[in-house]
Amino acid sequence: MKVLMVCLGNICRSPMAQGVLEKKIVERSLSHWFVDSAGTSGWHDGERPDHRAVLTSSQNGVDISMQISRKITKKDLMIFDFVLAMDTSNYNDILKLCDSEEEVHKVKMLMNYQYENQNRAVPDPYYDGRFDEVFQLLNESLDCFLDKVLVSERI
Ligand code: 4NP
Repeated sequence: MKVLMVCLGNICRSPMAQGVLEKKIVERSLSHWFVDSAGTSGWHDGERPDHRAVLTSSQNGVDISMQISRKITKKDLMIFDFVLAMDTSNYNDILKLCDSEEEVHKVKMLMNYQYENQNRAVPDPYYDGRFDEVFQLLNESLDCFLDKVLVSERI
């Protein structure tokens, strides 16, 4: 299973989401899973994650310090099984890259796995610094995502 986390800059939310899900797949011995992240903007291409995201993650046992920001491409829509958007703006930008209904179907709002059909956003901590709160939101929503996908894999 290949999962791509997507936010605007790929230096705050999606790197933390990648790190959190990577930790969960190790804990659950899901050796066939692969996680990556990207941004819709490309503004921070080649940069490491925001130092506040690195700090909050490490305080919660997740190392994201080696990640490098990149912009999402059309190829990502072909390769990944799930493309998880942090907010509706990300979601709409990702849809513009889709060439088929199959690709559109891969794009989901992450928090809908916890709060079905509500299209809630993972708030952007870049401006207000609420990284701890965002980390906990990601942790809960990604548990819901993992549980739902694993159940559907068993059917
Ligand atoms: P992210 O946060 O989308 O969660 O990585 C942001 C990072 C950088 C900027 C905006 C949001 N920026 O304006 O540079």
